Amino acid sequence: MNSKITLVLVLLGLISFINAVEYRPVVVLHGITTDNTPMELLVKWIEEALPNTYVVNMEIGNGKIDSIFMHMEDQVEEYAAKVAADPKLANGFNAIGFSQGTLVTRGYIQKYNNPPVYNYISWNGPQSGQFGTPFVNIKWIDKVLGTTPYAEWAQNTFSCAQYWKDPYKLEKYLEVSQFLADLNNEREVKNPIYRERITSLNAFVMSYSTEDSTIVPKESGWFGFYANDTQSAIVPLEQQPQYTEDWIGLRTLDERGALIKFTTDCVHKDHPSADACKPYFTNFTLPWLSEPL
Ligand SMILES: *[C@@H]1O[C@H](CO)[C@@H](O)[C@H](O)[C@H]1NC(C)=O
Ligand SMILES: *[C@@H]1O[C@H](CO)[C@@H](O)[C@H](O)[C@H]1NC(C)=O
Repeated sequence: MNSKITLVLVLLGLISFINAVEYRPVVVLHGITTDNTPMELLVKWIEEALPNTYVVNMEIGNGKIDSIFMHMEDQVEEYAAKVAADPKLANGFNAIGFSQGTLVTRGYIQKYNNPPVYNYISWNGPQSGQFGTPFVNIKWIDKVLGTTPYAEWAQNTFSCAQYWKDPYKLEKYLEVSQFLADLNNEREVKNPIYRERITSLNAFVMSYSTEDSTIVPKESGWFGFYANDTQSAIVPLEQQPQYTEDWIGLRTLDERGALIKFTTDCVHKDHPSADACKPYFTNFTLPWLSEPL
């Protein structure tokens, strides 16, 4: 063959190879009291940085109202059904959760993970629970959270009551919490599958914001939480039995260098929906989405 033609063919092959670089699909999930509209900017950031990447801006139920009133377990189940029904996600995906969406996403990983999540990115989630109002910014609901979050009707009614963790009432929390106490393997009988699924992640990337006044304590984004019976200090994850006894596999991940932390200085709601917060996306999230398949 003529060597010029060979060269052209090689170059064409190279160009189509470069064009064919593919990234894992991404599923993003919003927080409480909104629908998925605020996540549209994040979707755009991903699509601009990684052209042709398939991004799902997940919606659960009808969005805003269901984010408050749909049981967390049902939200997880719907997430699982939707990703399982999407053929483009069949080989797995990266998942970004924001705020309450971090817990729904982690619920999916620990209870389903089929198709599997590769990198799990948790933006400012109440990973060790929430203990502070205003949270929902609907007065009567915030009042219930502040007074009777562990009443059976409250647990049955509000998603956020199911991850409400009152450090002064830990026994009650462990007894009645309809979501988080189980998800965090805090009860006496541990679910070994939870640890298996979390340690199957390639990476678990988590943030909190130093300016966050919605998630309380804000360090809950890194699994920090108040000490028992007091709000005087935050006990970091590494000093909790959650870590030392490796209840859900966080210590195993950390020892593998796969538990990644970062902080931001964006107010809570701005994370997915303000251009000022984009540098945090670029520096601390995009690298985890950028590994070619
Ligand atoms: C309080 O903290 C201690 C030490 O971390 C722990 O052993 C104990 O189980 C905690 N109490 C409750 C009710 O969780
Ligand atoms: C992101 O990284 C760039 C380049 O290293 C740096 O200049 C910038 O300050 C970083 N921004 C944030 C928010 O971390």
